[in-house]
Amino acid sequence: MTGSTSARPPVVRLVATALVAGGAAVARQSGGRVVLVEGALPGETVDAVVTSEHASYARASVVEVLEASPDRVSPPCPNVARGCGGCGWQYLSVPAQRQAKLSLVAEALVRLGGVESPRVEPGPPLPTEGYRTTLRLAIGPDGAGFRRYHGHDIVEVGECLVAHPLLADLVATGGFGFAREVTLRCGAATGDRLALLAPSAAGAVLPPSVLVVGEDELEAGHRAWIFEEIAGKRLRVSARSFFQASPRGAEALVDVVKAAVAGAGPGALVDAYGGVGLFGATAGDDRAVTVLERSPSSAADARVNLPSAKVLRLDVERWRPSPAAVVVADPPKAGLGRRGVAVLSASGAGHLVLVSCDPASLGRDAGLLRAQGFRLRSTTVVDMFPGTPHVETVSAFVR
Ligand SMILES: C[S@@+](CC[C@H](N)C(=O)[O-])C[C@H]1O[C@@H](n2cnc3c(N)ncnc32)[C@H](O)[C@@H]1O
Repeated sequence: MTGSTSARPPVVRLVATALVAGGAAVARQSGGRVVLVEGALPGETVDAVVTSEHASYARASVVEVLEASPDRVSPPCPNVARGCGGCGWQYLSVPAQRQAKLSLVAEALVRLGGVESPRVEPGPPLPTEGYRTTLRLAIGPDGAGFRRYHGHDIVEVGECLVAHPLLADLVATGGFGFAREVTLRCGAATGDRLALLAPSAAGAVLPPSVLVVGEDELEAGHRAWIFEEIAGKRLRVSARSFFQASPRGAEALVDVVKAAVAGAGPGALVDAYGGVGLFGATAGDDRAVTVLERSPSSAADARVNLPSAKVLRLDVERWRPSPAAVVVADPPKAGLGRRGVAVLSASGAGHLVLVSCDPASLGRDAGLLRAQGFRLRSTTVVDMFPGTPHVETVSAFVR
């Protein structure tokens, strides 16, 4: 390591060893301290500036790559060079991204979950461009964009490589009035488009085919939604409801979930953290379905999307378990945790399908589920967001 003595942040020379969840690479300073280096790849020698110091590690950001990895590529999106923080792994080749995601998941299952030799498989290849049907953008003086990598200022993007074609023109030319943020959403199969502006839609100029709504209007009780079709099911998705941001990715998740659910004996299915009811609607077949969902907007959609299901608007942790043959659980990044695992296990389900967006919480939950008598059969990595370090998995547990 070498340090500069100027007032600017010190530049350090580092050799990166492995990628970690979130996208950075690990390196060690000469004293042994761990540095998480944004923008570096395993095997590379880089110069980096330290961006933050912590008790046991530091964070740094690459300023120059001195010896490049063979997996390094030129980012396909020109906005990366302008500082856009929307897609964090565009400098890593797509095959290497996929391999890295498989390794991160396997490592988390072993280290945090105590799973011996986990079976971790890749899902189908998914589109690398034009795949996002939900985009949350900040509004700057010259238009919509993403926050700068590890910064607050806005990089207006004009053309966005990952925006679905139905959203691309809105990103490039939309007039968002006095809004500070906009969530753009479309139904790839239906052609529906919606713009949710915060704090309000005042002054917005968008094509008449776009349903425009302000956060203030939703606060006042107004409702706005679009429809999307996944795996042959038409689903209502309200402005504030969670929905998978890639329809091809959602189809891939459904395929893996459905195959895991099919292995369970007859009996009820619980769709926990069910959102608008995606998995209950597509993987339930003839089973009685109970959806557990906290958000009022998503629960209202689930009632429309699954008219014969029982939809309970509550925190999963507060559910009074009823008997089920199979649970599908798709929690937010924090995962199930001790209470979520305890409640869902108490349903008596012999099969639990865990959809996870975070390798660390997946690893921890795998350990908690093992303590409840579950065994991990396999984990599939569904690479829904190529160009980013986002890791989405479906794990099939049985007991
Ligand atoms: C990752 S999303 C998955 C939604 C749905 N399974 C899908 O694929 O579209 C997680 C969902 O869990 C809900 N949620 C978050 N914490 C919750 C909790 N403690 N109890 C119930 N629902 C929760 C969120 O509102 C969100 O709809």
